[in-house]
Amino acid sequence: MRARGARRGIDAGMSRARTGTLPRLVDTPQWRALQRHARGLARVHLRELFAADPQRGKRFAVEAAGWYFDHAKQRLDARAVQLLLALAQARGVPQRIAAMFRGEPINSTEQRAALHVALRLPRGRRLRVDGRELVAEVHSVLERMAAFCERVRSGQWRGHTGERIRHVVNIGIGGSDLGPVMAFEALRHYATRELDLRFVSNVDGTDLVEATRDLDPARTLFIVCSKTFTTQETLANARAARHWLLAALGDERAVARHFVAVSTNAGEVAAFGIDPANMFGFWDWVGGRYSMDSAVGLSTMLAIGPGHFADLLAGFHAMDEHFRKAPPARNLPLLHGLIGIWNGNFLGIDSLAVLPYEQYLKRLPAYLQQLLMESNGKRVTHAGRAVGVHTCPIVWGEPGTNGQHSFYQLIHQGTRAVACDFIGFCAELNPLADQHDLLIANMFAQGEALAFGKTAAELRGEGVPAALVPHRTFPGNRPSSTLLARRLEPRTLGALVALYEHSTFVQGAIWDIDSFDQWGVELGKVLARRIGDELAAAKAPRLHHDSSTTALIRRYRRLRTDRP
Ligand code: F6P
Repeated sequence: MRARGARRGIDAGMSRARTGTLPRLVDTPQWRALQRHARGLARVHLRELFAADPQRGKRFAVEAAGWYFDHAKQRLDARAVQLLLALAQARGVPQRIAAMFRGEPINSTEQRAALHVALRLPRGRRLRVDGRELVAEVHSVLERMAAFCERVRSGQWRGHTGERIRHVVNIGIGGSDLGPVMAFEALRHYATRELDLRFVSNVDGTDLVEATRDLDPARTLFIVCSKTFTTQETLANARAARHWLLAALGDERAVARHFVAVSTNAGEVAAFGIDPANMFGFWDWVGGRYSMDSAVGLSTMLAIGPGHFADLLAGFHAMDEHFRKAPPARNLPLLHGLIGIWNGNFLGIDSLAVLPYEQYLKRLPAYLQQLLMESNGKRVTHAGRAVGVHTCPIVWGEPGTNGQHSFYQLIHQGTRAVACDFIGFCAELNPLADQHDLLIANMFAQGEALAFGKTAAELRGEGVPAALVPHRTFPGNRPSSTLLARRLEPRTLGALVALYEHSTFVQGAIWDIDSFDQWGVELGKVLARRIGDELAAAKAPRLHHDSSTTALIRRYRRLRTDRP
């Protein structure tokens, strides 16, 4: 469905986004003040900032929805925070937040609302957009999902031959994969072991073949998850899965017992052959990368059950409420987003490492890559003008201690600065001797080492040979934040994801970009279709590409293996 204002023409929608047309970011007094302040602070080491304020560790920390956000090891002071908050005010961030929560078409290039916050509004709350009561619609889908999940989990839902479902394969890509797989891995501790969940996203046949190699088709359920239901990779995998199923079960009617769909496109779902009764819908006001708490979370709900899924939503909602209501100076997602602006635009740090010290969060960095980079990897404002400054950082990461034995060397002693988000929990889910203390000791130690480093004088004092001193010196002054919660639970995960969603939104609002479209993925899709035809052509096609692409296509056609 279209949200309020969506029926207006594209120009009207775009000019609405420009309402109160913002001056160029770099021309604003707030930006200039931040630049001046950053120049002054550039000479100040984190060691000095800590020495000057014994309360710094407490002062630069806020709490929300079960999360403690320590940003004392960021290279900023109280004045910088004050200037960043003033910038947010000048860029209309509070008004934009309000517009998002009201369901205004803040996705200006697609004339849509970005109302993921409506997905977690508790039953009984009201949100009316374009004459429709969204909370009621959301909860009606949640109820259908819960009923279906209960049937599968209890064994009431049977496969075509009467077998109980034991394997669930989610087929989707981008937001229709990364959210579900991240959430499943994150909440595996709470998942039933009666169901074996797998995720297939890559159009590389290996992904599906390896995921299904040891599965019994009679006990396998496929969730075809695609907002548009037109995504090439997902449809190719779904067709192959149907072929795999029918080759074993030999009866078209089996599809109804072994395939369900999650989509906004009932027509295409039916055209694919999935009974619309087995479709779980959502709405065009939910962006793919903001959809893990919609019906896209069906695999998550199958794994952890409707009760835990409700807790996940409650966690999202708790952070939403905090974001909407907390005063700016204590607002966790706002501060998190502004610190990203400070690092990227004023300290020149163009890389963000997300470092969970929690094995269950191993797919969080991949999930956040899409969330941040597809949202804010943009170069023009709503009005189509150059932003004029760098936008989204490069986001990457790995679970903590693994990274320490791999790329942390560069973070500590390389020539490029990397901002780090450490994420950890006080209580472990799988106690094993003192290993959790060891894990978290490493996380705290890394933040400390990055901030304070080790000086040449300290090394000489320890008797390190002069020739080795430069090699063993740690400059320090490398910024990091630490996000700490008591325990990884559905609720804390929901709050964490909402925090990053809102932080991303804050940054997009400062840059005045549309964080909810993704035109940058289109050109490659179009070219791939054309090249796909050229690769498949029986006779050597006439090619009109550049000389490099032409040579690659010819070589591929010559050397490829015969198709089965
Ligand atoms: O190509 C990018 C993208 O549009 C993502 O934004 C989206 O999450 C993904 O493709 C999958 O799209 P769909 O859910 O429509 O298959």
